[in-house]
Amino acid sequence: MESKQNYQLDRERIPQHVAIVMDGNGRWAKKRGLPRLAGHNAGMEALKEIVKRSDVLGVKYLTVYAFSTENWKRPVEEVSGIFKLLIVYMKKELDELHANNVKVKIFGDYSRLPKESIDALETALEKTKNNTGLTFNIALNYGGRDEIMRAVRRLAAECCDGQLTAEQLTEDMVSDRLYTGGIPDPEVVIRTSGELRLSNFLLWQSAYSEFVFTDVLWPDFSPEEYERCIAEFQGRKRRYGGV
Ligand code: IPE
Ligand code: IPE
Ligand code: MG
Repeated sequence: MESKQNYQLDRERIPQHVAIVMDGNGRWAKKRGLPRLAGHNAGMEALKEIVKRSDVLGVKYLTVYAFSTENWKRPVEEVSGIFKLLIVYMKKELDELHANNVKVKIFGDYSRLPKESIDALETALEKTKNNTGLTFNIALNYGGRDEIMRAVRRLAAECCDGQLTAEQLTEDMVSDRLYTGGIPDPEVVIRTSGELRLSNFLLWQSAYSEFVFTDVLWPDFSPEEYERCIAEFQGRKRRYGGV
């Protein structure tokens, strides 16, 4: 087993793209006898610090899983509470994100969200669209299979129109039609809260990602623990099928 202590972060080898499954908000709240939404609220606070630290470290793309296509199965109060928190987060953080030259993007079909949430998101997208610093991708109503299906449907339509033949299809054509089109695959996917699964996150893009799992619950995930996870990634040998 890898030791949890002895990692030294190499600031010269920071990954370009870090993806995070922010899990454990509910358990964090439960441990404290609080409602689940208190956990989601605390999770937003943790997220603020991780975005800042990503920027400081020189990460180019940070992709966080905020709401999955499966999370609609939760009680409506929790779902609508999460969307309300998102509005609060965006309204509170947008000026600072913009001042830090952060570009906000959304991965997922956010048209299903309540109008007020859509407005807050679109304000953020519009305001930061020309920024050139950290790209902060928020996966919202996101599912990896849904994302691949959308790309497949578009390619199938292009084939039916006669613009392409089935034989001409390439992996790059699929990649270009994903939400991540044009950005590199994540070198590392971090998941908090001790769950050892992907839960439909970045299925195509994580083909050769390194996975770092930590038992820390998302609201407790500090910038120091984040750096430890990146250092753990830096200790891996990536072989891509070679020797
Ligand atoms: C992650 O925390 C946030 C979302 C999925 C929206 P959870 O809400 O899944 O927390 P646990 O897994 O129940 O502890
Ligand atoms: C994955 O966490 C989705 C997000 C973090 C947004 P879940 O808590 O929904 O995943 P499962 O249900 O444990 O697989
Ligand atoms: Mg969970």
